[in-house]
Amino acid sequence: MKNLIEAAIEARDKAYAPYSHFKVGACLKAKNGKIYTGCNIENSSYPATNCAERTAIFKAVSEGVKEFECIVIVGGRKDGQLEICPPCGICRQVMSEFCDPEKFQIILAKSEKEYETYLLKELLPLSFGGELL
Ligand code: THU
Repeated sequence: MKNLIEAAIEARDKAYAPYSHFKVGACLKAKNGKIYTGCNIENSSYPATNCAERTAIFKAVSEGVKEFECIVIVGGRKDGQLEICPPCGICRQVMSEFCDPEKFQIILAKSEKEYETYLLKELLPLSFGGELL
């Protein structure tokens, strides 16, 4: 877990957050062992912002990888300490598109040693499936 948290912290350094000054990093582990990192990328048109988690997931999917084990998320204000940063609703929904709610782990880290682990089903109960409408 230490390596994944370190990678998420490193990815957070790349966050582009000139509007909120809140920087988020994510490290997604695929079932094939590959790692994809991401950061939040803001926009002057605020809704065009992309969260760190979705950056990582979209990087993986764009490279043909769609099966995931877990994601580590770290976040906090630019000059402050890391705080527990739960994923937003849109990111939870995107996770539910690709990840098994019973198995996919979401790890919210404050440091390499301090973290909380949740299953996707805990953070997105009764999720919309759509079943490929
Ligand atoms: N943010 C993320 O990157 N992930 C989340 O799950 C929650 C929010 C970003 C979006 C925005 O750039 C900043 O945090 C403040 O909302």
